[in-house]
Amino acid sequence: MEENKKFYITTPIYYPSGKFHIGTAYCQCIVDSIKRYKKARGYDVYMLTGLDEHGQKIQTVAEKNGLTPQQHVDNMAKAAIKLWKLMDIEYDDFIRTTEERHMKTVQKIVQIFLDNGDIYKGEYEGWYCMPCENYFTQTQLVDGKCPDCGREVKKMKEEAYFFNMKKYENWLKEFYSKNPDFIVPETRKNEIFKNFIDPGLEDLCISRCTFDWGIPMPNDPNHVLYVWLDALTNYITALGYLSDDDTLFKKYWPADLHVVGKEIIRFHGIYWPIFLHALGLELPKKLYAHSWVVMKDGKMSKSVGNVIYPETLIDRYGIDATKYYLLQLMSFGQDSMFTPEDFIERYNYDLANDLGNLLNRTIGMINKYFGGIIPTNITKKTDFDDDLHNCAKEQISKIEENMDTYHVRDAIHDLWKYISRTNKYIDETAPWVLAKEENTEKLKTVMFNLAEALRKIAILSEPFIANSSKKILKQLGISEDCATWDSLNEYNMIKEGTKVIEQGEPLFARLDKEEEIEYIKNAMKGK
Ligand code: MSP
Repeated sequence: MEENKKFYITTPIYYPSGKFHIGTAYCQCIVDSIKRYKKARGYDVYMLTGLDEHGQKIQTVAEKNGLTPQQHVDNMAKAAIKLWKLMDIEYDDFIRTTEERHMKTVQKIVQIFLDNGDIYKGEYEGWYCMPCENYFTQTQLVDGKCPDCGREVKKMKEEAYFFNMKKYENWLKEFYSKNPDFIVPETRKNEIFKNFIDPGLEDLCISRCTFDWGIPMPNDPNHVLYVWLDALTNYITALGYLSDDDTLFKKYWPADLHVVGKEIIRFHGIYWPIFLHALGLELPKKLYAHSWVVMKDGKMSKSVGNVIYPETLIDRYGIDATKYYLLQLMSFGQDSMFTPEDFIERYNYDLANDLGNLLNRTIGMINKYFGGIIPTNITKKTDFDDDLHNCAKEQISKIEENMDTYHVRDAIHDLWKYISRTNKYIDETAPWVLAKEENTEKLKTVMFNLAEALRKIAILSEPFIANSSKKILKQLGISEDCATWDSLNEYNMIKEGTKVIEQGEPLFARLDKEEEIEYIKNAMKGK
């Protein structure tokens, strides 16, 4: 492996204010899929996730539940870890902002800012949105309400510390002019320019003295840090910045990709680069702002109460079906709507029919015509082989291009084109006719090509539906060392004598549409 082939990828750290829903799970899925893809491509990948445990809202929720904030976040951390395990999300570190390793380093960072004159004491007055824990200026409000979540805001004033953002405004603009692709999709960058950079940066209020669930300012412990400085720095504190700089931090910083939701791109696209620059650190290579999973009545959110939980779908339909649905749903730049109808359709058409049946039919025919052994010494061609091979080549390079640019949904669509092409190959070659005509050589070719296509499909689907990928290989009797990404260019990886399973199990059993739609709808209503 090349020395510099590392890939540091992060998820946002989630507010543990309530149960995690499929919107939050989506973010984990997309990061997990990119991580798996990069790993398959030979990168030394490091994935960080975690929880953003401070702030007034957490304190309020804990009190409501009769818990201390620490007890509340401890419970929530357990729940998060359990859920990511259930979803088979493989991360390398889970950072909690209440951990000492984080809090100590954040205080050191703040001290550096204080020493460098980046922080000053002032008075803050603004419109405060409690659920978003964020102040807004009058002009940022939309119809007098929070521009992020649309809820009521309250005028508040308090003594506070500020970070001098204005000092770095020109630097930030210059940075973007040299790195126009820093944020993808571009529309998100344009939005923050229009709303925050072009009108002139405001200094950022970084402390509060009206509540105490936070990291104390090192110079003035009556003040606790207001969440964004605390939260954003997780990406470096987790790597040991200022405590063990020569190990993970040296190896993995700068991050290759921060994946965040579109509403928090502002914090990552303005304040985070400025904090890093003020510390003399390199900037992350890219920010990817994804859109939202929405419901018919708008954004899914714990506080709006129109929520579907990942457990509901996973318990009944499995991890792969849930991940597949979320990943194929979300387009690169637009919100995408979850509906029970669509979930069941995608399950039945894409997973049960297109993929599941392809495997099932192939295994059935190899058993029927060749006693379960995948034919290998191929001597004849059919008229359709070249087209199938060309489709494989084309779709593989499209999938790679799309995954390299984080267009995960497009990559999945490319993979399904290849699956459909392979299904069509069965219809075109009509193996049952070849069998009847005793055209054994051609029948061998067809069975080999189908098994080979499924081997490739298993490799290509691993980043999205890892369990199914394993099952496909297992049912075909192909070992995992014959299923590396590099072997996608090969056509002779299936060893002589490879035996498929006798009775293939369906990867995805077809669902009764009406019954299942009803089931999901009830779950959404909390029944
Ligand atoms: N704690 C901050 C992030 C700090 S990162 C240094 C935060 N937490 S959050 O829990 O409110 O949101 C975390 C992420 O979940 C955000 O990226 C947000 O976009 C994402 N999602 C929350 N609801 C979502 C949907 N309905 N759909 C997709 N993603 C959504 O913000």
